[in-house]
Amino acid sequence: MISSHSQATEAMALSEATRARFAREVAKYPPEQKQSAVMACLSIVQQEQGWVSREAELAVAEYLEMPAMAVHEVTTFYNMYNQQPVGKYKLNVCTNLPCQLRGGNEALAHLARKLGIEMGGTTADGLFTLQQCECLGACADAPVMLVNDRNMCSFMDHDKLDQLVDGLRAAEGKA
Ligand code: FES
Repeated sequence: MISSHSQATEAMALSEATRARFAREVAKYPPEQKQSAVMACLSIVQQEQGWVSREAELAVAEYLEMPAMAVHEVTTFYNMYNQQPVGKYKLNVCTNLPCQLRGGNEALAHLARKLGIEMGGTTADGLFTLQQCECLGACADAPVMLVNDRNMCSFMDHDKLDQLVDGLRAAEGKA
């Protein structure tokens, strides 16, 4: 008889290198608090895979001996974890009020036009994913956008956005 669990999601196999990276994060905490490394482990998975799949969440849960749902809650709570595959460059445009009042929505619309994708979409060449996000804590520099969860692009105007996109395309040989 086929088990009813045969379709269930299974934990991704972790490479030795990944386990070693996890272990370095876990070592920063007392043994009974190794679950505190969950964000760091999810970040490692995302660096290596580009996103955090359900299979990866299960692997992290197993490694840290914590409930899979608790890991999933972390993945879904923080905007920086990609729950689907994304382009090489993830563009998060802030659309909260202070940014909106200074052209955040126009910037988003301009990027969507330039890239030929809808908000939430990824370009066919896999280079760009366009998303909106909540306040990035840089309202004084509005409107702002975060590139790959790391690099802030402040005071966006159309020229600045064109330069950024064209520069990244050129760097990837896709100008
Ligand atoms: S509202 Fe956009 S950074 Fe605060």
